[in-house]
Amino acid sequence: MRVSIVPERRAGQRGLHGVLQLGGTGALGVRLSQALDADVVIGDPTPQMIRYVPTSDRVSAVLTRAEAMPFNSDEFDAVIVSDAFHHFRNQPGAAAEMVRVVREGGGITVLELDPAGLGMRLLILAEKLLGEPGSFFTPEAMCEFWRNEGVEGTCERVNGPTYRFTGTVQVGATNPT
Ligand SMILES: C[S@@+](CC[C@H](N)C(=O)[O-])C[C@H]1O[C@@H](n2cnc3c(N)ncnc32)[C@H](O)[C@@H]1O
Repeated sequence: MRVSIVPERRAGQRGLHGVLQLGGTGALGVRLSQALDADVVIGDPTPQMIRYVPTSDRVSAVLTRAEAMPFNSDEFDAVIVSDAFHHFRNQPGAAAEMVRVVREGGGITVLELDPAGLGMRLLILAEKLLGEPGSFFTPEAMCEFWRNEGVEGTCERVNGPTYRFTGTVQVGATNPT
C-alpha cells in the first residue's frame, strides 16, 4: 500500500522545505528523498547516529533533540518518526515542536509499536532496564494524544505490533485559542 506523508501544499503557503525525519541513521531518509522527490533533513541527538547519515545535496543531517529544534516555524511539509517516538523523554514537548516546524495542513507520521501483548511487555521491561523511557502508546492513545496537539489522524496496523499514525496539522494547532 502506498502512503502519502506529504499532503498537497495550499496556494499562498511559504517557507516550505521538504521532509524532516526525527531519530535515525539516514537509510529511511534517503529512501524518502528518492520516493517523494523531496529534500530530507534528518534530526537526531546522538552524534554517533548523525555521523553515519549518507548526506547529499538532498539529504542533510542536524544534531538536535526533537524537544527543542533549531528550525523555523512552518519550515517543513511533513515530519516522520520511525521506531523512535518511544525514546523521546518529553513526548508532549517533542509533539509541540513537531507541530511548530510543520506547516498547517502538513503531515505528521509516526511508526510505533503497540505495547499490548506479552512480547511487547518484555521489550518495554528490557528498554527500561537499559535506562530508556519506553513510553509506548496503543494506537487509540496515539490518535488521542495527537488530537490534543491539534493533529487529526488515523492509526493503521502495518505488521506485528507495528502501526502507523498518519495525521494532518490542523489550522491553529500551533496557537490554540
Ligand atoms: C531505534 S533508533 C531509530 C532508527 C530508525 N528507525 C532508522 O531507521 O534509522 C531511535 C533513534 O531515536 C533517537 N532519539 C532518541 N531520543 C531522541 C530525541 N529526544 N529526539 C530525536 N531523536 C531521538 C536516537 O538517537 C536513535 O537514533
